[in-house]
Amino acid sequence: MKTAPLPWSLECSACGKTRAAQGLAGVCECGQPYLVRYAAVPPPGARSALAERDWTMWRYREWLPLAEGEQPVTLGEGGTPLLPAPRLAAQHGFSQLWVKDESTNPTGSFKARGLAAAVTRAAHAGAASFVVPTAGNAGVALAAYAARAGAQARVYAPASTPATILSQIKTFGGDLVLVEGHIGDCGAAARAFASATGAVDVSTLREPYRIEGKKTLGLELVEQLDWTFPDAVVYPTGGGTGLIGMWKAFGELARAGWVGGMPPRMYSVQAAGCAPVVRAFEDGADSCPEWRDPSTIAAGLRVPRPLGDRLILRALRESGGAAVAVTDAQLRTAACELQTSEGIDACPEGGAALAGALELKARGLIRARERVVVFNTGAGWLYRA
Ligand SMILES: Cc1ncc(COP(=O)(O)O)c(C=O)c1O
Repeated sequence: MKTAPLPWSLECSACGKTRAAQGLAGVCECGQPYLVRYAAVPPPGARSALAERDWTMWRYREWLPLAEGEQPVTLGEGGTPLLPAPRLAAQHGFSQLWVKDESTNPTGSFKARGLAAAVTRAAHAGAASFVVPTAGNAGVALAAYAARAGAQARVYAPASTPATILSQIKTFGGDLVLVEGHIGDCGAAARAFASATGAVDVSTLREPYRIEGKKTLGLELVEQLDWTFPDAVVYPTGGGTGLIGMWKAFGELARAGWVGGMPPRMYSVQAAGCAPVVRAFEDGADSCPEWRDPSTIAAGLRVPRPLGDRLILRALRESGGAAVAVTDAQLRTAACELQTSEGIDACPEGGAALAGALELKARGLIRARERVVVFNTGAGWLYRA
């Protein structure tokens, strides 16, 4: 069967080598992630078409890897609220503090966006079996989207992953394997499983489409701010897909003429017990040496050596942002503040983002009058037994 070429191609983020997008794609032969490059971007006039569309991430289908006539594998992901946080703003001296609350996604976290896109593409390429290493939430999302696609999911998670998250992976039919170690150890097990069985490895940045799904965080945010950029985005960073995806979205929107002005400064928040990006940023390095003995209650931030390190650091520097670490005590208190002062059931990673915003303000990197968006990336209930 002859198939029409897809209207995008893949470009290596490091060596620039390109390839056609047909079939399944892993990383470039140089070992670095591919990024999706579209043949065309929608003109600003195409914005009016959005009025007719549902509030899911697929309303931005022209910005996503979906060919004419293709249907996504979807559970209605995206369309999450951008909530003002007036009490926290007043208490901490911000004039405009917003929380993008990703806990309302199917499967309870922002991981739904990336896995919906990755499973969609792989399913269109004929995949029937997937594997992922996870700090937890990506495993829940893969299990659900694989089920939605009628496919199998093998999930490798650290034995220390919160029990409710593990139970959700099994609820969606995921074949869960616990690993004594961190997500890097789970990654090695996932790659071995993929090469032994042919399962598609949808690890962070080992295929190019999770970033495209996460890009919708940025598209949606800008639409919710009436097609303007905020001043600062504060994002809890583990593997960095959301940060990289948003930065890609802001660049594409600016190039397409959909939004004017300066894109936001991007800030990564990490846990003090696992802060490879913060250390590399402060050292002026362009990649992250492995963080030894990673430890934090924010499971999603326990990533000792992100594959997308170069892309994360590039986004922070190009945007004029920075990286900051917070302790588990700080992130726990901040999650509790989001819960009790604003009614937002923040996960520990969302707590880290708020704690990071407070730290950045205390250091004078974020100013009181600025429009600041903090990401609550998942639901707090997933972390409670
Ligand atoms: C709730 C939550 N927040 C943040 C992260 C880190 O996300 P990223 O890999 O996009 O940096 C994770 C990753 O597992 C997560 O589960």
